[in-house]
Amino acid sequence: MTQALLDHAAEILRENDLGAYTVPTHGLYPFQWNWDSCLTALGQAHFDESRAWTEIETLFAHQWDDGMVPHIVFHKQDDGYFPGPDVWATGRAVPTSGITQPAVAGFAVARLYARAKDKNMARARASALLPKIAKWHDWFFRCRDPHGSGLVAIIHPWESGRDNSVDWDAAFERVPTEGVMPFTRRDTQHANPAHRPTQAQYERYIYLVQLFRGLGWDNERLHDASPFQVVDPGFNAILLRACSDIASLATELGQTEIATRSQAQANKGLGAMESLWSAPHGQYLCLDRQLGRLVQSPSIGGLLAAFAPIPAERCRVIAATLAGLGDKVRYLVPSHDPDAAEFDALRYWRGPVWLIVNYMIADGLTRAGETAVASRIVADSLGLILRSGFAEYYSPVDGTACGGGRFTWTAAMVIEFLTNGPQT
Ligand code: GLC
Repeated sequence: MTQALLDHAAEILRENDLGAYTVPTHGLYPFQWNWDSCLTALGQAHFDESRAWTEIETLFAHQWDDGMVPHIVFHKQDDGYFPGPDVWATGRAVPTSGITQPAVAGFAVARLYARAKDKNMARARASALLPKIAKWHDWFFRCRDPHGSGLVAIIHPWESGRDNSVDWDAAFERVPTEGVMPFTRRDTQHANPAHRPTQAQYERYIYLVQLFRGLGWDNERLHDASPFQVVDPGFNAILLRACSDIASLATELGQTEIATRSQAQANKGLGAMESLWSAPHGQYLCLDRQLGRLVQSPSIGGLLAAFAPIPAERCRVIAATLAGLGDKVRYLVPSHDPDAAEFDALRYWRGPVWLIVNYMIADGLTRAGETAVASRIVADSLGLILRSGFAEYYSPVDGTACGGGRFTWTAAMVIEFLTNGPQT
C-alpha cells in the first residue's frame, strides 16, 4: 500500500515536471509557483536530489534586483491562466508576477541540506542559494515592514498563498473596484466555480495589480500605497522559521554575516509575533495594519504559526485548539473554523484542508513535542489521499476532492509523510 502510494506520488511529480521547474498541475496552473516549487523539492529529493536543488535554483534565477522572489514565473506563454504576463507587465525578460509568496525556501533548503546523501553537492548548491535567500528576507523586512515592527505585511491576498481566506474580507472591503479592466477568468474553466474565489474578489485582486503596476512595481512605494496591508501570523511564521533555519545553515557553511543577521531577524519577529496572540481564540490572529486592529477571524493562518519556533506554551494551546477542531470535522486541518458563519467546506481557503499546511503545522507541533495532534494530522492527510486521490484541496467534513487534480505539492507532501513523517 505504502509503496503504491509512493509510486503514484512520484509519477505525479514526474508528470508535472517540465525539466527545470514543475507546474502545480497541468491546465489550471501552467507556470512555476514560488512556494509550490520549494515544497515540491522536498518530495523530489527522495528520488533525485539534484533535480530537487534545480527546482529552487530555477525559481531564484528569476529573483528581482531588489531581492523579491516573485510568486509566479511565466516561463512560457500559455493562455490558459489569468492574469497572465501582459496584465502584470513587470517588464522582465522572462515575465514574472509582481508580488511574492510565503518564504518557505529557506526552510526547504535547510531541510534538503540536512537530509542530503550527496553532501558535497548539497554544500555547493546550498552555499550558492543562501545569499539569495538572505537577500529575499532582507527585502521583506525593508519593503514589507518599512516601519520596523519586526513583522511583514502582505499587500495582496495572493501573497499569503491563502488567496480568498476569510482573514482578508474586511480589509478587502476597502479595496475599490472602479476602473478595473474587463477580464475573463480562466480558473473557473478548469475547476468548479463553487470551489473557487468569487467574481467580486477577483475584481479586487485585479484592482490591486493595476494599482501596483501604475506605480511601476517600485517596492519602496507599494507597501505604503496599498489599501490592503495585513500582517498574517502564518506568513510571518514561515518567514521566521526560514530565518531561523538559514541562520543555522549559514553557521554550518561559514557564512557568518548571514547567520547573525538572520538570527536577529528571527528573534525580533518572534518577539513581535506575541502581539498577535489571542487567548480567547487559542491561536494567533491577523493584524489589519491600516486600522491597527486584530482581525477576529479563526483561520488556519494563526495555527500555522506553530511552524515557527514560538514559545512551547503557545504550541500547547494551538494543539488543544486543533484537537477541538478535530472533534468538529472528520479531517484536520480545516482552513477555517467550521463553527464560523463564513465557513465553506468546499471553497478554496474558506474551509478546505490543504496538505502543505498540514505538513507545516505537523512539523512545528512535532518539534514542540505535541505529537498526538501531529499524528492525527498526518493520519488524516493520508486518509484524504486514500479516499479522494491527489487533489488540490479537500472538504474537511467528508473528504470530497476539490480544485485541480494530480496536484504536485500534494504528491510531494505524501512522499514526505510516508518516508519521514514530521521531523524534529
Ligand atoms: C493557488 C493557491 C496558492 C498556490 C497556487 C498554485 O493560487 O492559493 O497558494 O501557490 O494556487 O498551486
